[in-house]
Amino acid sequence: MPDRETLLKILDLARWAPSGDNTQPWRFEITGADELAVRGFDTRDHILYDFEGHASHLAHGALLETIRVAATGFGLQASWNLRPGSPDTAPVYDVRLRETPRLPVDPLFPYIEKRVVQRRPMRATALTDAQRQALASAPGPDYEVDFFESASERRKVARLLWDNAYIRLTCPEAFEVHREIIEWGARFSKDRIPEQAVGVDPLTARLMKWAMRSWSRVDFLNRYLFGTIPPRVQLDLLPALRCAAHILLRPRGALVNLSDYVNAGVAMQRLWLTATASGLHLQPQMTPVIFRWYAQAGKAMSATPEIGRRVLDVAARFERLSGAPGGSPVAFFCRVGNSSAPVSRSLRRDLGDLLRAPSHD
Ligand SMILES: Cc1cc2nc3c(=O)[nH]c(=O)nc-3n(C[C@H](O)[C@H](O)[C@H](O)COP(=O)(O)O)c2cc1C
Repeated sequence: MPDRETLLKILDLARWAPSGDNTQPWRFEITGADELAVRGFDTRDHILYDFEGHASHLAHGALLETIRVAATGFGLQASWNLRPGSPDTAPVYDVRLRETPRLPVDPLFPYIEKRVVQRRPMRATALTDAQRQALASAPGPDYEVDFFESASERRKVARLLWDNAYIRLTCPEAFEVHREIIEWGARFSKDRIPEQAVGVDPLTARLMKWAMRSWSRVDFLNRYLFGTIPPRVQLDLLPALRCAAHILLRPRGALVNLSDYVNAGVAMQRLWLTATASGLHLQPQMTPVIFRWYAQAGKAMSATPEIGRRVLDVAARFERLSGAPGGSPVAFFCRVGNSSAPVSRSLRRDLGDLLRAPSHD
């Protein structure tokens, strides 16, 4: 039986799993000598990017895969099950850890803490065959990995992200989210995205901070002073051009229920850890995927009709560009490339904040 200290060490590593906007939608319980429960939640009620909780469900998968990888470092084989009857809004994952003689340490183990999002432009150095091969096989046989690498493909993605970003920056409902998730003036943040990791220069950051005190300031800047241009150039256009490749992760089966999204999160984390192990940095660029989820479900993202029209347009163009037409599922969209490590990053809540006494429901 593993001791409690070992379980705590595994959870301490697993905390480093990524989540949209660093929301960390999980709490942990140690439920037995070789058992953990992960209590998931989602942020759909106040974060519009968490469409039907899917982004949180991807993060749950990333966390569960990180627990599995971390456990191999302690000779433990982890397996998990979704607790029957737990609701999609509060799924409980029961994790068993079995001592397994001669269990090899997962080669991704050393990269759990090194994996980090890189939002700044990277070098456009092409992927090596070995890197492409490692990334293509990382998520396993249930997923296809599409690469968009040529200069012309990167330009097409850049154009799409440029228009996509206009929606992000002019949508009043998104403004509320951005206001909540950025920790201004910070280089590190335990529960949000620190200002310096957002990816804009210090002057633009100051302007954003000033503008974000009220929607009327943002709206004024956008309408009369080309306010969307500097963030769009720095956060979307340049990063989209300056990378080695854009990557689309496509499940071979449909994404229908909670488990499908959690499994896709496992695949996403394997891809991201493999990128790190291959010496690459990665940035998810999930908003076109999320806008497409809204469009496919026929749901409005905003009370502003103009935003709705633009969301449908971006979703349709994303389908054409990605070659994923006819509603075929897309789990994750990101870019990868070579760069030095970001100087600023999100940290995590302390393990003590994430641990709960076990409850028996
Ligand atoms: C499902 C999911 C969606 C994400 N979407 C985006 C995104 O669209 N753009 C972005 O810059 N980062 C995105 N991220 C990255 C998170 O913001 C990041 O992982 C989190 O803030 C923790 O930072 P770290 O990865 O550097 O540890 C996403 C992460 C996850 C798991």
